[in-house]
Amino acid sequence: MGVIARSRGAVGGHHGCGVRTYPQSDRLETLRSFIYTIGERSTSTVAGRMAWQLFTPCGDLRVEGGDGKPGVIGGKMIELDGVSKIYRMGDIELRALNNVSLKIDSGDLVAMMGPSGSGKSTMMNILGCLDVPTDGAYRLDGNDVGGLSDNALAEIRNRKIGFVFQSFNLIPRTSAVRNVELPMVYAGMGGRRDKAVEALERVGLGGRVKHMPNELSGGQQQRVAIARAIVTDPVMILADEPTGNLDSTSTVEIMKLLIELNDSGRTVILITHEDEVASFAKRVITLRDGEIVRDEIPRNRAAITP
Ligand SMILES: Nc1ncnc2c1ncn2[C@@H]1O[C@H](COP(=O)(O)OP(=O)(O)OP(=O)(O)O)[C@@H](O)[C@H]1O
Ligand SMILES: [Mg+2]
Repeated sequence: MGVIARSRGAVGGHHGCGVRTYPQSDRLETLRSFIYTIGERSTSTVAGRMAWQLFTPCGDLRVEGGDGKPGVIGGKMIELDGVSKIYRMGDIELRALNNVSLKIDSGDLVAMMGPSGSGKSTMMNILGCLDVPTDGAYRLDGNDVGGLSDNALAEIRNRKIGFVFQSFNLIPRTSAVRNVELPMVYAGMGGRRDKAVEALERVGLGGRVKHMPNELSGGQQQRVAIARAIVTDPVMILADEPTGNLDSTSTVEIMKLLIELNDSGRTVILITHEDEVASFAKRVITLRDGEIVRDEIPRNRAAITP
């Protein structure tokens, strides 16, 4: 789980240039009680640590266009300009991404493919503001992400991006509804229980709100993760092999949900090794050795039949 070592989110810390005015004391109190009840669980597992870092509390910062509404369809959601990511291991330099330039429109549904080690997750981590490029510029929904502090990156993540991973990353021994509430706690949002239940209903799990992750099937756990990703109403969903651990029936269910989210205006970017999954995308980008080697609009896009 390289993401954990590489992610830049830090728990705590506040930046004072506030436009989002949640009373800090209320927010801290809520956070404290949440941390008290799930903290031990969340930091004692890989999945928990991942969730923990994704939903970092982040202070009050101004994020342009961060109103939780989908961007203008056809406007630019993502602009990468000459982005490289270089890992240095002693004397050896590894270019995980090599001078990548890429634009993705708001409202697009993009599949990223490529062999193992080609840089897909590295790309996703940068797009998701979990990591920053070594070189080059990244604009996300009009925000120049390059020079931002950890706090500001956390704010962008919380407000604009919903994450879905291959291994679900739910916090164990914590009910579905509490898992879905987590990002709202960090974002300082009110009405959490109702919104969490609503998100679970949206993914077809209205009857499972009190279930613990280990009482749910893999496909259901991934649907909880999608509910958690959408509950803050992000403009973009990033999914790193969201169907990698699922059977073909659950794969179709998850793709159906991602397509619905895309139909409602969200930009969706997913990594997959499966041609079948990529066939649902509006655009397929292939990486090799840290470079984009193919970028195409499939002529016969697959449709999900009810
Ligand atoms: N934290 C790190 N430190 C050093 N090298 C890394 C780190 N993370 C990734 N790499 C290297 O960068 C390259 C790209 O890795 P990445 O995880 O992006 O590949 P990927 O396309 O997602 O592969 P997979 O399909 O196996 O998930 C690989 O060669 C990998 O070994
Ligand atoms: Mg990967």
